[in-house]
Amino acid sequence: MSSTPNSQLKLLFSPELIPNAVKEALPSDLYVRPLARDDYNRGHLEVLKVLSVVTDPGLESYQAHFDSMLPSSSADPTKAQTYYVISIVSKQTDKVVATGTVFIERKFLRGLGSVGHIEDIAVSKDMQGKKLGLRVIHTLIAISEKVGCYKTILNCSDENIPFYEKCGFKKKENEMAKYA
Ligand code: ACO
Repeated sequence: MSSTPNSQLKLLFSPELIPNAVKEALPSDLYVRPLARDDYNRGHLEVLKVLSVVTDPGLESYQAHFDSMLPSSSADPTKAQTYYVISIVSKQTDKVVATGTVFIERKFLRGLGSVGHIEDIAVSKDMQGKKLGLRVIHTLIAISEKVGCYKTILNCSDENIPFYEKCGFKKKENEMAKYA
């Protein structure tokens, strides 16, 4: 099986936001693009299982969820888009091997500024340690900055701090959580 060209896919956002430097840094058998509406069939949820519990919603609900993340067609896409999810895909198997999200929080402070929140970074077990996590983070930071965020932040476990430091982050403040 070989990968499906971007032109035949329904993508979550414009692929132009993905920096060429990341595309060029990937091994030749992998490519990076926005999440596609049928990445359910490419194992997107399987990859997320390295991170947390994933309950399979089925293709129809997955695609309805994808559609709910799209801006309305009349809106300026750089202002209306909130969720940017990316997939790194194997050209040979057409399977997702790494993924990550940055969502955009729009504020009233800092001159109506925006903050990018990085979430749900996952690299499939057999592909870890090959700089794919780093490429995912560099892509999400670039998107966050291109859409005008004045900072990009994330929460992580203590054991992942060295990884995020290598990606250019510095530890600041604390996380508080209240589960429902
Ligand atoms: N501790 C110390 N260093 C690390 C760690 C770690 N846990 N993970 C990676 N690194 C280092 C690597 O050695 C490498 O260093 P180098 O440049 O000196 O060689 C550098 O960080 C880049 O590593 P990558 O190869 O890009 O890491 P990888 O592709 O394995 O991705 C990730 C890292 C995302 C943590 C992956 O291992 C993973 O999916 N883990 C399980 C899920 C997870 O914990 N996700 C992050 C949750 S936090 C969030 O989502 C905001």
